[in-house]
Amino acid sequence: MQGPTKKEKIYEGKAKILYTTDNPDYLIQYFKDDATAFDATKRGTILQKGVCNNRISTKIFGLLESKGVPTHFVELLNDREMLVKKVQIVPVEVTIRNIVAGGMSKLLGLEEGIALESPVLEYHYKEDKLHDPLINDYHILALKIASKEELDVISKTSFMINEILKDFFTQKNLDLVDFKLEFGRCKGKIILADEISPDTCRLWDKDTRQKLDKDRFRRDLGGVEDAYQEVLKRVLS
Ligand code: TMP
Ligand code: ASP
Repeated sequence: MQGPTKKEKIYEGKAKILYTTDNPDYLIQYFKDDATAFDATKRGTILQKGVCNNRISTKIFGLLESKGVPTHFVELLNDREMLVKKVQIVPVEVTIRNIVAGGMSKLLGLEEGIALESPVLEYHYKEDKLHDPLINDYHILALKIASKEELDVISKTSFMINEILKDFFTQKNLDLVDFKLEFGRCKGKIILADEISPDTCRLWDKDTRQKLDKDRFRRDLGGVEDAYQEVLKRVLS
């Protein structure tokens, strides 16, 4: 069977590019090796990151679909591309945290590594100029960023994804410290979009506590490429 035909670039973000296809309901999502941090004030390249993230996301979106989570994922096309459903992105980044790190450690002056009694959900308004500020349900409803019904689906689905992914990564000897999700509207439904990869998750080896995610790039820890390859290997094992 012939694959979809790539037509025009409609969006280029920091780590991915979206192209239209001959099917108006589908887009091609291309994964780049470009890496940015701190609102793109730090830039670099992580060799083969696009290939790793495409494969890792494919595996995770497939797992989530198999557990009943609707996602934009349609099929893997090649090393760096997947076919996805066209969605209208809800401009909110949902972060779920199981262990204190990064933004939560800074915000509350807590040491990284403290296990949380229950998962913490945060919303950040997706607006680079404002540095993706932390907002809550009331901001989202009052500013009509999403409806009450949509937000209920978003929060319930995010906690469900956390349970599925915590179990999955435990089998890979990794702690899912925290991660970021994006949702989109597709034919009147809210579905999971974007990617799930070491760019968007913090993953620590359970035994050594070694960081196997984008923090190696953000914090100049070295071994960045190896960390992505290691996560890919474990995810596919
Ligand atoms: P944070 O601790 O910096 O708020 O990050 C929480 C999680 O979200 C972490 O796993 C990395 C991910 N993340 C993104 O995917 N994109 C971003 O722009 C930021 C700041 C974090
Ligand atoms: N990708 C984000 C940026 O460049 C930040 C991050 O992932 O740390 O702003």
